[in-house]
Amino acid sequence: MRRMTRRAGIAALLFAAVALAFALPPAAAAEEEEEAEEEEAYAEEELSDCLDCHDESARYPVTPILATPHGVKADARTPLAQQYECQTCHGPSAAHIEDEAAPGVRFGPDLPAGPQNEVCLGCHQGGERINWQGSVHAASEIACTSCHSIHVLEDPVMIKDRRPDTPVMRRGQTAICFQCHAEKRAEIHKTSSHPLRDGVMLCSDCHNVHGSMGPSNLVKPTLNETCYTCHAEKRGPFLWEHAPASEDCGNCHTPHGSNHPTLLTARVPQLCQSCHLTGFHTATAYGAPDPSSPAFGDRFVGAKGCLNCHVEVHGSNHPSGVRFKR
Ligand code: HEC
Ligand code: HEC
Ligand code: HEC
Ligand code: HEC
Ligand code: HEC
Ligand code: HEC
Ligand code: HEC
Ligand code: HEC
Ligand code: HEC
Ligand code: HEC
Repeated sequence: MRRMTRRAGIAALLFAAVALAFALPPAAAAEEEEEAEEEEAYAEEELSDCLDCHDESARYPVTPILATPHGVKADARTPLAQQYECQTCHGPSAAHIEDEAAPGVRFGPDLPAGPQNEVCLGCHQGGERINWQGSVHAASEIACTSCHSIHVLEDPVMIKDRRPDTPVMRRGQTAICFQCHAEKRAEIHKTSSHPLRDGVMLCSDCHNVHGSMGPSNLVKPTLNETCYTCHAEKRGPFLWEHAPASEDCGNCHTPHGSNHPTLLTARVPQLCQSCHLTGFHTATAYGAPDPSSPAFGDRFVGAKGCLNCHVEVHGSNHPSGVRFKR
């Protein structure tokens, strides 16, 4: 059948070429237009007609959609409540029902994302997706359906079940992100990480992958605002502020994973010494190598533990908390 269709297509092309060469009489042109229209026509058939062929035994089972939010016929906003039902998403498919030509809109990772996304954005442009246009994923030609599944009872990327003992990692959101962001999988398996491994947290707690006002698709306009949504106590205001913390948590922490404790970008004291080269007392890691130097064997760095004395690195509200010592 497909072959016949293709042959018919070639014939139509030939016909068009010949017709052009001889400058079509108006009647023939109209006829051709009609033919083209028919190609793009919506099938008047009902839902059940699609399901005649696409039933439970089909290679790709589509009926679960009837039990998802998209399948709620009583909700006038859903695709299946629209006049052409399945064709709201799949486009005009009269020709498809006739002779197995492809339906008007096809979905798949190998097809251009633009036309696929247009269908979804027709109903989902606002809300969380207000910044979709121009976002990194949109600019990278990622299709909505690279992350979302339509014909399943539960869209894996939407699963909110965070009980650590469910295999959400394998079937849920993180697994989908890792398909393209494999390096993040390695990061969250480092010794210190946010609890993403067991699904207690999700990537979408910090990222709005549909685009955002912030850097790196963060849910808030700045990195710090994003962190404060959960670590509110780090916001302050502090009597004694530590400038790098109020400015950017990323000065000392990495969000996904680190082999240093508490998600630090480097170990203490090296971390502190990356900024504090000189000071009231020596800030050199292991004291000065030169025994004649006054800093040699300095007791302040003897334990290498800046945090032993400067305990409140994020800022202090203690009246005597200057230098974050309490
Ligand atoms: C006469 C049987 C028949 C009817 C009726 C039918 N289809 Fe199909 N459809 C097929 C066959 C055969 C295929 C190709 C094999 C497959 O993918 O299962 C197909 C494929 C598809 C595909 C995949 C196309 C692709 O290449 O990506 C979609 C989407 C589709 N049909 C939607 C619909 C919709 C929507 C309706 C109702 C308007 C419908 N079909 C009605 C037989 C039918
Ligand atoms: C909300 C939009 C939407 C609606 C409504 C919808 N589909 Fe789909 N359909 C998709 C998407 C997207 C895919 C690609 C696979 C996926 O994401 O699950 C798809 C895939 C398919 C396929 C398989 C294509 C393949 O790769 O073999 C068939 C067949 C199909 N749909 C038929 C139907 C039928 C029949 C209906 C009506 C009962 C329907 N669809 C309603 C969006 C929709
Ligand atoms: C005709 C309008 C329409 C189209 C087209 C449409 N949707 Fe929807 N979608 C809805 C409605 C209505 C809901 C239910 C919203 C609600 O309950 O608040 C919904 C819900 C959703 C949800 C949430 C499902 C859940 O489990 O909560 C996702 C995800 C979604 N749509 C993705 C898509 C994608 C991807 C496409 C394109 C393949 C698409 N939609 C096409 C109208 C549409
Ligand atoms: C990179 C993966 C990804 C892509 C691409 C993507 N989404 Fe989503 N989508 C998600 C995740 C993750 C959630 C759950 C967000 C949450 O829990 O806050 C979601 C939630 C949704 C919801 C339900 C919640 C809401 O905002 O109402 C809808 C509707 C939706 N997406 C539509 C779309 C549409 C339309 C597109 C394409 C323009 C799209 N998505 C592209 C990952 C994606
Ligand atoms: C605790 C919040 C948080 C969580 C959870 C989180 N991220 Fe991020 N992500 C960030 C921040 C903050 C940045 C910006 C980092 C920077 O600018 O150095 C970022 C940047 C990114 C980037 C772009 C820059 C880069 O490092 O490659 C990608 C891709 C990314 N995250 C993917 C993910 C994925 C996938 C997940 C889930 C496994 C995830 N993120 C979970 C906070 C988070
Ligand atoms: C189909 C592939 C694909 C999937 C699936 C995917 N992404 Fe992406 N993502 C990309 C591409 C491509 C880029 C842009 C290039 C890059 O930075 O790697 C990107 C960029 C990002 C960025 C960086 C944004 C910026 O401004 O730099 C973040 C954050 C991100 N993705 C998070 C996620 C999360 C979270 C998920 C899962 C819900 C996800 N992505 C799923 C392909 C994907
Ligand atoms: C959605 C909530 C949430 C957001 C947003 C969030 N965190 Fe966390 N954070 C957590 C949870 C939950 C833990 C684990 C606490 C525990 O294990 O007791 C944690 C732990 C940490 C730890 C300690 C890790 C360890 O190994 O002990 C650091 C450091 C941290 N977060 C920094 C950040 C930074 C920086 C940001 C912003 C980029 C951020 N968090 C955003 C929820 C969040
Ligand atoms: C100057 C470096 C530095 C900056 C900037 C910084 N932190 Fe930390 N953070 C640390 C160090 C060092 C530890 C380990 C403290 C310890 O072990 O006593 C830590 C520990 C943490 C912890 C886990 C222990 C706790 O105190 O709850 C969280 C959560 C955290 N930081 C969040 C943040 C957030 C949110 C920001 C941004 C507002 C931030 N940090 C900025 C150095 C920093
Ligand atoms: C990204 C650079 C940076 C890092 C990393 C950093 N600091 Fe700071 N720190 C600053 C700046 C900037 C100030 C403010 C200096 C000023 O006001 O003159 C400051 C101030 C201080 C002060 C108070 C100094 C004063 O004069 O009041 C102490 C104590 C301090 N830091 C300790 C630490 C410790 C301990 C660490 C490691 C956990 C650390 N800092 C990591 C940049 C940094
Ligand atoms: C044994 C406790 C102790 C240790 C360990 C220690 N400090 Fe201090 N630090 C102090 C005291 C005490 C002061 C002066 C406080 C004051 O004047 O109120 C100080 C002052 C500072 C100042 C302010 C200097 C100035 O010029 O005003 C900085 C910066 C600082 N320390 C960084 C560090 C760093 C980085 C480390 C780790 C390499 C470290 N400290 C380890 C006790 C310590």
